[in-house]
Amino acid sequence: MISLLGIYTPLFAFVLHVHSIVLDVNDQQSIINASALLAHGVQELYNGNETGGVPGKWPYPPYYWWESGGAWGGMMQYWHFTHDDSYLNVMMDALLSQLGPNYDFILQQEAFDTGNDDQAFWVFVAMAAAEYNFPDPPSPVPPWWIVAQNAWNDYAARWNTASCGGGLKWQFYPANAGYFYKNSISNGAFFQLSARLARYTANQTYIDWANKIWNWVEDIGLMSPTYDVYDGTDEKINCSNVDHHQWTYNVGVFLYGAATLSNYTNNSQIWVERTAGLLAATDTFFTPFTNATDIMFEAVCELDNSCNVDQWSMKAYLTRWLANTSILAPYTAGRIGTLLRASALGAAAACTSGVYGNTCGSKWYVNGFNNITGLGQQLSALEAVTALLVNDTIPPRTQPQVTILVPPPDALPITTIAPTSNPNATANPLHDSPPNGVSKKDAIGYGGLLVGLAHLLI
Ligand SMILES: *[C@@H]1O[C@H](CO)[C@@H](O)[C@H](O)[C@H]1NC(C)=O
Ligand SMILES: *[C@@H]1O[C@H](CO)[C@@H](O)[C@H](O)[C@H]1NC(C)=O
Ligand SMILES: *[C@@H]1O[C@H](CO)[C@@H](O)[C@H](O)[C@H]1NC(C)=O
Ligand SMILES: *[C@@H]1O[C@H](CO)[C@@H](O)[C@H](O)[C@H]1NC(C)=O
Ligand SMILES: *[C@@H]1O[C@H](CO)[C@@H](O)[C@H](O)[C@H]1NC(C)=O
Ligand SMILES: *[C@@H]1O[C@H](CO)[C@@H](O)[C@H](O)[C@H]1NC(C)=O
Ligand SMILES: *[C@@H]1O[C@H](CO)[C@@H](O)[C@H](O)[C@H]1NC(C)=O
Ligand SMILES: *[C@@H]1O[C@H](CO)[C@@H](O)[C@H](O)[C@H]1NC(C)=O
Ligand SMILES: *[C@@H]1O[C@H](CO)[C@@H](O)[C@H](O)[C@H]1NC(C)=O
Ligand SMILES: *[C@@H]1O[C@H](CO)[C@@H](O)[C@H](O)[C@H]1NC(C)=O
Ligand SMILES: *[C@@H]1O[C@H](CO)[C@@H](O)[C@H](O)[C@H]1NC(C)=O
Repeated sequence: MISLLGIYTPLFAFVLHVHSIVLDVNDQQSIINASALLAHGVQELYNGNETGGVPGKWPYPPYYWWESGGAWGGMMQYWHFTHDDSYLNVMMDALLSQLGPNYDFILQQEAFDTGNDDQAFWVFVAMAAAEYNFPDPPSPVPPWWIVAQNAWNDYAARWNTASCGGGLKWQFYPANAGYFYKNSISNGAFFQLSARLARYTANQTYIDWANKIWNWVEDIGLMSPTYDVYDGTDEKINCSNVDHHQWTYNVGVFLYGAATLSNYTNNSQIWVERTAGLLAATDTFFTPFTNATDIMFEAVCELDNSCNVDQWSMKAYLTRWLANTSILAPYTAGRIGTLLRASALGAAAACTSGVYGNTCGSKWYVNGFNNITGLGQQLSALEAVTALLVNDTIPPRTQPQVTILVPPPDALPITTIAPTSNPNATANPLHDSPPNGVSKKDAIGYGGLLVGLAHLLI
């Protein structure tokens, strides 16, 4: 990482004598300093502009293409929250290098690890770039929101009514394993993008699709009546059963979409209820033990260290979408602030290793470093800490003709956000029983964004 250190000399000088992340959650400068150290930690792992590296990508293996999109999303958040321009050029180069010929983040060389969800983690960065006024790309590349719209048009064309009454497949290239799986993160990403494009453009088409996607997800049982979001379902059985694994990012992706529609619809009752319900459902992922109140954890795999490289990054996305939700749905800010502060303290305490004391372990509830490290862990800690700046930022932009209403304070909806999950099940949410003769390890041996895929497609 010689080149990075060369570029960011001021930070280097500062971090030399620091050996762990010091974080005071009530001190803005302390949060900014800790964020800078963590952003640097994410960039230390990037080799995209060195000999042997691929522009835009963290090294593969072990990092699949999607996770680089996830990581630039975290850098976008860092840029927006701290106004630190140090990485702006690197980010711009990275995003442009992965746009693809149709400006929609589809690249032939990544076909083997591009599913609908993988693409989405890049599209989220373009959408955020539009909402946060990141510099527009140079001509002839269209503005960021058009990039997001291009990808949205891909999704709309891929909506698949041949089975299950609708839904996006996980994979859209027939050669990829997972072609018959319809999963929550793909459909949730399409839902969230529809919601954000609706709010950004006020185009009714996006509202209609957001409703359609939501209804399908609910009808098919990927989301329970108490807003637990399950992993996916199988076309081969016409989606008559679901894989009940619950992952942080699945509830998160729907939560921020619902909050966006709650904001755009002037707190319509239905979107307020859904936002509050999804927030309550995130309880599955907090407080793993009574000594770790309100600290986030990846319930399926964290306690026994069985998370894979992809899964260790997921706390980043729930954190990001919680922070974003607290801005667009102000009635959630109290509860979310509590969750974010507790989790950020745990995350900072997990980062004590490496030359600069900014290399992070993977668990936020142990009050220390556990020596299971990687990009996902760095990214999650970065997002946990920068999220604390959420109240100091400006809300996402819209196109000039769009009006977002600000209800008088006394008109804010009162929502009682009660836990919906069985508290006894918190550390061990619903699992399907292991498939006969197929270990989970076998099932997660595919390329791409492999998450809680259990037995249904095998
Ligand atoms: C933040 O970092 C700067 C150096 O870049 C240092 O002068 C300052 O004391 C730090 N502030 C806090 C609150 O850590
Ligand atoms: C929402 O997330 C994006 C990253 O995808 C970030 O750039 C942005 O600052 C966040 N917005 C808010 C209001 O938290
Ligand atoms: C890495 O990227 C930065 C920003 O785009 C650039 O200034 C620098 O020259 C690049 N380094 C190498 C070795 O290409
Ligand atoms: C498949 O599932 C959809 C959605 O539940 C349903 O409308 C359709 O009738 C089912 N098709 C068959 C052949 O069972
Ligand atoms: C609304 O969005 C859809 C989908 O991208 C697009 O086809 C349509 O042209 C847009 N309508 C307007 C008025 O911009
Ligand atoms: C929408 O979000 C903005 C930004 O936080 C907020 O000021 C406004 O009150 C919200 N409006 C509604 C209807 O939630
Ligand atoms: C943001 O402000 C709200 C309202 O004052 C507060 O309840 C919440 O805790 C704050 N969030 C953070 C992350 O500090
Ligand atoms: C809390 O308890 C769990 C389970 O006993 C343990 O693994 C963890 O290290 C504890 N955390 C702290 C901060 O003591
Ligand atoms: C951490 O893990 C690395 C790689 O497995 C190992 O070389 C190192 O000794 C471990 N450090 C500690 C403190 O356990
Ligand atoms: C938006 O909601 C507020 C509070 O419920 C209400 O007073 C106001 O009339 C609504 N505005 C519109 C245009 O619906
Ligand atoms: C949770 O566990 C406690 C102790 O085993 C038991 O008394 C209680 O009924 C359980 N609660 C639920 C909702 O299952």
